Parts: sequence; structure tokens; C-alpha cells
Amino acid sequence: MTWAQAPGKVILFGEHAVVYGRPAIAVPVIEVQARACVESGKAGQGTIIVAPDLNHRMSLREAPDDEPLARIVRLTLALMKADPDPDLTITVTSTVPVARGMGSGAAVSTAIVRALGKHLDYWLASRVISDLVFQTEVLYHGTPSGIDNTVVSFEKPIYFVKEVGWEVFWAGEPLLLAIADTGVASSTREVVADLRRRYQAEPARYTPAFDRIGEIAAAARSAIEQGQGETVGRLMDENHSLLQQLGVSSPELDGLVTAARGGGALGAKMSGAGWGGNMIALVTETSRGRVDMMLRLAGAASIIITEVR
Ligand code: MEV
Repeated sequence: MTWAQAPGKVILFGEHAVVYGRPAIAVPVIEVQARACVESGKAGQGTIIVAPDLNHRMSLREAPDDEPLARIVRLTLALMKADPDPDLTITVTSTVPVARGMGSGAAVSTAIVRALGKHLDYWLASRVISDLVFQTEVLYHGTPSGIDNTVVSFEKPIYFVKEVGWEVFWAGEPLLLAIADTGVASSTREVVADLRRRYQAEPARYTPAFDRIGEIAAAARSAIEQGQGETVGRLMDENHSLLQQLGVSSPELDGLVTAARGGGALGAKMSGAGWGGNMIALVTETSRGRVDMMLRLAGAASIIITEVR
């Protein structure tokens, strides 16, 4: 048996504006992981994909072309010039929350590509993995910027500009983030499509917010690199206000953001597509306990603490 895993992610700055070419920052969240196990199956069975958490079992030869798990398996086998339907069983499990802006689709796809590469003894560079995973992100998200597959496959903080490029960077001082779940599922595809319709109807109304979010992401990268936590927090607050103006926040997200600030967070914002999913708060060793308590009192369904390095 061969297995591999891949982490979740959060967007620190620049969600949505990144779809319109502005810079954004994303970081891996290693506390949650998707995992894929590949084992040899019975002769003639072909490839079977099992997702026990979702009560899902499918045969690759019967799966439709737009089934995301089947697509990533087919793409990976084709890239490796392997048998297109080998006798393998692929079991996928994940602790990355689904539909919460934490990159669960990208994590599952990345874990599958890595596990298949290892099992068939084919070395796949992170860049190649990221490009393959992007092709399934289209199924999950419609018009993805590409930031999720990039951060999940490289597992480093990234500064990303769609269709231009991206860079790995490091925090001057580790940043402690509390990631709190509203408990509300949200579809990235729907939120992105809704904003796109509104933007296309009135571009002049949305362009200044996209521009400012891009400036914030650029300033935040310098502040993170220089270990200026207070500046990072202030920029998170401003980014959240702009996301509210874009109409992608929600009362639940706003409630958790206010609670985190009340608990002493240096800054807080929604993260990912919005209308639900997760928010993030920048905390310190001193404030983390109080922020955690305030988030729970405000109704957070779960809280993950992660460190950005
Ligand atoms: C999703 O994690 C972030 C969005 O900006 C969409 C994307 O970049 O594809 C909302």
C-alpha cells in the first residue's frame, strides 16, 4: 500500500480580487489533511475510488468525465503514460472541512496525485502536481484563480498573481492564526459567479475595491516578512471591510470577526469565498485563549490554531 497526504489552506489576503488579477496571499494549514491510499486490486477490477467519509465508491470506467475524483485519477495516469484503468483501489479520507474555504477539493486531488505518483514510482514535481490539480479545481469552482492548487501543492506561504506568477515567502516572525468555522457551508462556485454577475453589470462600482485589496495584499506581504504583526492585523481589518462592501461576507462571519477583535485579536477577516465557511484572526500567545473563548461564545462551530512561518 502507498499513501500520501496534502494540507488544507486559508487565504490570508486578497480573495475574490485575485480572480480579477490582483495579488493575494495564501498559507497552508497542516493541522487538517487529505489522505489517499493506493493498493493493488483484483485482476480485472480496474480502478476503484472509495471515499468512506462520503459513503462513495465508484469504478473509474463508469465515472463521468466531470466527476472530480475520476478526473484527477485519469489526468494523473495519462500524464504518467500509465495504463488508463489499472487494477488499483484508491481510498480517500480527509479532515479538511468541506465547503468551508479551506481548499478541501485541492487537498484531496493533490493527495491522490502524490499517492499515484509514489505507487507507480513516477516523480512528479510540485509545479506539475499543481497544474494537474488546477484542472479539477475548474470542476469544483468554475473559474478558479489557481491560488488553492498552488498553495496546497507547494505547502508554503505564497504571494500569488493569477496568470502572472507566484512566489514563496517567509514570515519574519511566526504568525499565530485562529481559524474559526461559522458552521455554514458555502459554494465557492456560487459566490464567485454571483460577484462576477454584479461586477459585469457595474464594473466601476467594484474595481476600486479590487484595486485596494490588491494594495493591501502587497503591503501585507512586506509586513509579514518584516514581522510587523500589528500592521498585518490592521490590514486584515481593512480587507474584511472591503469584502463586506463586495457583498461576500455574512452575518455569521461578521459576528465572529467582531468577537475575535473583542477578544484582543490584532485583526480579523473572513477567509475564502465567503457567505459562510471560515474567518481568521491574528492572535498572540497572550490573546489566543481569550479570542478562542470569544469565538466560541459567538457560535464558532470549530477553531483551529495554526502558525504561519
Ligand atoms: C477561494 O479559495 C478564493 C477565491 O478567491 C476564488 C479563487 O481564487 O479561485 C474566492
